[in-house]
Amino acid sequence: MTFDPAPFAARRNKLADAMRAAGGGVAIVPTAPRAIRNGGSEYAYRYDSGFFYLSGFREPEAALVIIAGDTTQSLLFCREKNPELEVWEGFRYGPAAACEHFGFDAAYPIGELDARLPDLLADQATVFSAIGASEEQDQRIIRALDAIKARARSGITPPTAIRELRELLDEMRLFKDAFELETMRRAAAITCAAHRRAMRFARPGRFEYEVQAELEHEFMRSGAQAPAYTSIVAGGANACVLHYIENRAELRAGELLLIDAGCEVDGYAADITRSFPVGGRYSGPQRAIYELVLAAQAAAFAALRPGEPCSAFHDAAVGVLTRGLVDLGLLQGSVDGLIEAGGYKRFYMHNTGHWLGLDVHDAGRYRLAGQSRPLAAGQVITVEPGLYLRAAGDIPERFWNIGVRIEDDVLITPDGHEILTDAAPRSVADIEALTCS
Ligand code: GLY
Ligand code: MN
Ligand code: MN
Repeated sequence: MTFDPAPFAARRNKLADAMRAAGGGVAIVPTAPRAIRNGGSEYAYRYDSGFFYLSGFREPEAALVIIAGDTTQSLLFCREKNPELEVWEGFRYGPAAACEHFGFDAAYPIGELDARLPDLLADQATVFSAIGASEEQDQRIIRALDAIKARARSGITPPTAIRELRELLDEMRLFKDAFELETMRRAAAITCAAHRRAMRFARPGRFEYEVQAELEHEFMRSGAQAPAYTSIVAGGANACVLHYIENRAELRAGELLLIDAGCEVDGYAADITRSFPVGGRYSGPQRAIYELVLAAQAAAFAALRPGEPCSAFHDAAVGVLTRGLVDLGLLQGSVDGLIEAGGYKRFYMHNTGHWLGLDVHDAGRYRLAGQSRPLAAGQVITVEPGLYLRAAGDIPERFWNIGVRIEDDVLITPDGHEILTDAAPRSVADIEALTCS
């Protein structure tokens, strides 16, 4: 697919407008550092989400400078061409080609950033930066301000404010444009196919890591660049460990398998969880818990529409789960009292969802001016109620070690919502059609 710089340029212009509305100035946005894994080996490189959102540029050792004055200027700092190193590490654009291909106003070697910064910041009102996110960036700004102050007798003045860039940028990232949604739909479709494949594959005697390999094979063969987060493949009691990522255990007949896995496509995450029987049907108690979580998810979906507070879907899920736990005899007391006192948290201890986008737990505030923010079209949120029943003396044995989470990715639309991950089976009948096939 040919690269289209237009969506990225539009975002830079929009950010610059927001910066001008805040008095104008200069934003400095570095990408993520490379990370050593061990010895002579690095983790696969992943760019910074905010930097990528504004640039489309995926190379390490780069920074974007956006100047919001009377006009907007976007400058890229990146690695220079280096034919010898490119033999080892592969192609790099270099400033000239990057400037042309990605549509910046100018581009320079990254090694010149520190030297050029004092001139870029001189006589500007404000520096916009992700404050505290990177020691290197914080120090770079302080050095540049000191350099300007040292030249004060020449009549230039340093910026008088450093503002949190993410306040502006995260708000933009919360509302997905058409280009982003198209990418998120691809990530969702691939992830749904991978979950279907896992349901067909998981059988007693197979190991969690074998199922993980099936899932991730489906991700990669379909063009995803990576899992968006470490895949959770948790059989039986392991499903009650919320962040279980060992994925080493053997699957046994009669167990449920909880898979929380999603791929990343061109920077964008999918995040899906399914909980299904290993090569068979749900037992009675498993099915009771599963249907309860499914009902909680349906209640949560019903609370997703523009104008609704973004906390309402969690409250809806908690209401259904608590009522169901009382009906099953797993909680005692009044539903209202159990909700008020948080009694349900023994079995449901996490939130019902989060924004989704370039980061799996994506940018964007949940509260504005002390209130739960209203949902609005263009936001993408996960809906992931669950119940986790560990073995305990006060719980009937038939419910021991049942862990169920059902997670889907939902776009808020002008009329309500659209579930992006419907192609991953969710009903008991649709799931058993695959687990019994
Ligand atoms: N997979 C991470 C989450 O569901 O939040
Ligand atoms: Mn999630
Ligand atoms: Mn998840």
